[in-house]
Amino acid sequence: MSKYTLNINGKRQAVDVEADTPLLWALRDALGLVGAKYGCGAGQCGACTVHIDGAPTRSCLLPVSNIGKAKITTIEGLARDHRHPLQLAWQELDVPQCGYCQSGQIMSACALLKQHPKPTDAQIDEAMAGNLCRCATYTRIRAGIHRAAE
Ligand code: FES
Repeated sequence: MSKYTLNINGKRQAVDVEADTPLLWALRDALGLVGAKYGCGAGQCGACTVHIDGAPTRSCLLPVSNIGKAKITTIEGLARDHRHPLQLAWQELDVPQCGYCQSGQIMSACALLKQHPKPTDAQIDEAMAGNLCRCATYTRIRAGIHRAAE
């Protein structure tokens, strides 16, 4: 085990984990930040998506030892004082069904809106293609992104 100091949601947090521990498990098991979910563990589903320096990243594939001083943002840090427009839109439009994939969906959608504040359907589909939803809420996810972009 080694100690790493991670910059998470604007706070420096120490974790004591093996060097190859994926960030997802450091977040969930060591720090109690359970918003990012374990789906496939292989970078295929997007349930574990967090931002690393603003870029959507699969935390199940990223070893803690590779993060250094990069800024990590999880769904818990997306909006500190009030809900993020995406979270409000998700609530207003009842986007989730089971909800398991939705924090990853929102983190990818957030990165999309930073790049394209008024995204087209094609931009949404491209940006969200790596985030799978077993309940197939894709139509509502797209509507939620448009609502948040209003
Ligand atoms: Fe990381 Fe599926 S759990 S992409």
